[in-house]
This record gives sequence, structure tokens and C-alpha cells, in this order.
Amino acid sequence: MNVAIPKEIENLEKRVAATPETVKKMTAMKLSVSVEQGAGIASGILDADYKAAGAAVVADKAKLLSEADIVLKVRPPVKDPRSNLHEADLLKHESILIGLFGRTLEPELLSKVNDRRVSVFSLDALPRLARTQKMDALSSQSNLSGYKAVLTAADRLHKMMPLMMTAAGTITPAKVFIIGAGVAGLQAIATAKRLGALVEAFDTRPVVKEQVESLGAKFVEIPIADENTEDQGGYAKELSEDAHRKEQELITQHVCESDIVITTALIPGKPAPLLITKEAVAGMKPGSVIVDLAAETGGNCALTQKGKEITENGVTIIGYLNYPSRTAIHASQLYAKNVLNFLSEILRDGKIELKMDDPVCHDTLLNPQVKSAER
Ligand code: NAI
Repeated sequence: MNVAIPKEIENLEKRVAATPETVKKMTAMKLSVSVEQGAGIASGILDADYKAAGAAVVADKAKLLSEADIVLKVRPPVKDPRSNLHEADLLKHESILIGLFGRTLEPELLSKVNDRRVSVFSLDALPRLARTQKMDALSSQSNLSGYKAVLTAADRLHKMMPLMMTAAGTITPAKVFIIGAGVAGLQAIATAKRLGALVEAFDTRPVVKEQVESLGAKFVEIPIADENTEDQGGYAKELSEDAHRKEQELITQHVCESDIVITTALIPGKPAPLLITKEAVAGMKPGSVIVDLAAETGGNCALTQKGKEITENGVTIIGYLNYPSRTAIHASQLYAKNVLNFLSEILRDGKIELKMDDPVCHDTLLNPQVKSAER
């Protein structure tokens, strides 16, 4: 069984779906692994490292993909601007493609993979269960985003983070407000605390209060207790109009008192909720910073510009995308492990065995119409 790891094409993507460590494990699982030349370089991995781990290094992407039974990627397949060939058009018929592709495929890509009867599995759609934690790429990557968001904000802030008592006077600690206390938010809280900031956090799911407080931050309460804010999978639900308005008002008060605001609020399958209004930004002190980790799905701040850093009335608003790629070495290390663990679930004795009644397979397969179960 041939496994291929192509070099990611998109400019912002520095991650790679396998490391020498996971290559070694795959070869031990009787898989023959090939990696595209230069695939790991942006994650600090040389072709020679892959070779030493037992992989073949292949220069020709078309050859690599067309001979692979399983392709491991980070981003969805795209057209390669150098060759003008679409990665999906190079995939072998009836092969398997694994990556972080969201919960649905774009219609054009869906039609391409269906034509070739390629089964596409996305780790974004993995159910959050105790046994799936080792494959949970959303968590492994969001954790890094939360960390990097705080460091980015601290760098832009024209202030120090910790309390400092010096002979020249006392510097008070920066105030950091984290909106959304999921995986990214909790890591942002922990990172800001380590840097010595005073940290407050808010989430519509009251269950996170204890987690926020255990990290030493203050949990901001919003009187929307009558709402059922969590779905069965543990994810946040959209708030009613009234609750959303109350939330915006309270967030405005806290945002105006903060030096740094990190927003991470997401609702699966929906645009990000708008939580920081233009008026709230106008009330912030010049020199404050907002890092909007929800920029990809519309942003939690009304002024966020996707992929850009802007300044409005002296407030810096950062809408960069793909924070995990900014810590590519560790992001690839963790993601490659998630992928390897997923692969172990769908292989037996080096052969593909898809258990479609298992939620791991069932929920992550984005195109069940190719009838992978009949494989
Ligand atoms: P996410 O990335 O979908 O959302 C981030 C956070 O934004 C969530 O905490 C959500 O409640 C919050 N949010 C949504 N709308 C908001 C609003 N209007 N105002 C303020 N906050 C808002 O969430 P993530 O980080 O993926 O975690 C989702 C859930 O999955 C959590 O309950 C988490 O504990 C759970 N989880 C479970 C795992 C497991 O059991 N294996 C592993 C990882 C996470």
C-alpha cells in the first residue's frame, strides 16, 4: 500500500502531514511511504530526514499522487500554479485522501474526487469522544493558535505584560480579555497568565467557568442562563437575538477596559458571531490590540479584515489566517501524529478496512456517495 505526502501548495501553508517520526511508524505498519521533494522544509524537515526514516523522496507531484493508495495532506487539493494541474485530477482512482478539509467540500472539488471515486476524510469532522482525542487535529492546532495569538498581540502592544516594580516607578500589568474559552481560548488564557497579564474570559457555555478559573483568570458572567447554549456534541449554539444583544453590550464594557482582546468564538457550520462592534472598538484606548482568531469565518470583530492587520483610531486589529502554520514545526509534529492515529483506525495488516458503522469513519467521510464501505 503506497502512502504519499505532497508539499502543500498554498502560500500560507507551511505545515506538512507527516514527519520522519510518523514515516517510521507507517513503514512499520507495512506501508510504503513517498514524500514530495521539499515537502517538509517549511516545517524544518529536510528530504534527507525523510529518507533516513525510510521514505522515498519524489520530485514529480503527478507521479507521487497518481501512484498513491492513500494521500495525506493538510489543506484541500488545489490547482498548482506552477504546473497548472489540479491536485485532485492527479489522484489515483479509488484512493483515499486524508486532511483538514472542513466539514464539506467545495462543489468543484467534490465533483473531481467523486469522478475518481476518491474517498475524502476530513479530521475537522471527527466526533469529540475520549477515544478520538489522539486524532483530534482541531484541538492540537487550535491549542497552538491560542498561544501564538497572545504572543502576536503582546508584540504589537506598546506596553509590557507583567507588573514591574522598578526604581523608576511601577508598571501595572496589561489587561487581557479572551472571548470564547474553547481549546484556543483556554491556551490563550494560560499563555497570557504566564506572561503576567490580568486575564478575564467569557464564553456562552457556562460549563467552561471552572476551566477558566482553574487557569487563574476571572470568568465574566452574562445573564443568559435561561438559554441552552450548548449542543449535544459540546459545541456552542447560536444565541437568540436578545441574548446576543446582551452579550454585545457586556463585551463592549470589558473590551473598552482591556489592552488586548483575543476573540476565538466559533459556531460550527455558521459564520462567526459578531461580538465586538465598531462602537466598541471606538471606545478602546489607542495602542490596544485585538487578535481575531475567527477571521477565517467572518470574524468576531466588525472591523476585522481577513488576512490583514489594520489600525483604527490607534487600535490594532489583526485578522491573520492560519495561526498553526506560524508555528509550523510543532503544528506539523502534532498534526502528523493525529493523521497517523487516524490511519491506524482505517488499516488492518497494512490494508484499508473502513468500518462505516464506526463514527470515526462515518463522520469524517465527506463524500459517502463514493460508497467506500463497499471497498
Ligand atoms: P470552537 O472552536 O467551536 O469555539 C470556540 C469557543 O467559542 C467555544 O468554547 C464556544 O463555546 C465559544 N463561543 C461560541 N459562540 C460564542 C459567543 N457568542 N460568545 C462567546 N463564546 C462563544 O470550540 P472548540 O475549541 O473546538 O471546543 C468545542 C467543544 O469541544 C468544547 O466543549 C471543548 O471542551 C470540547 N472538546 C472536547 C474534546 C474531547 O472530548 N475529545 C476535545 C476538544 C474539545
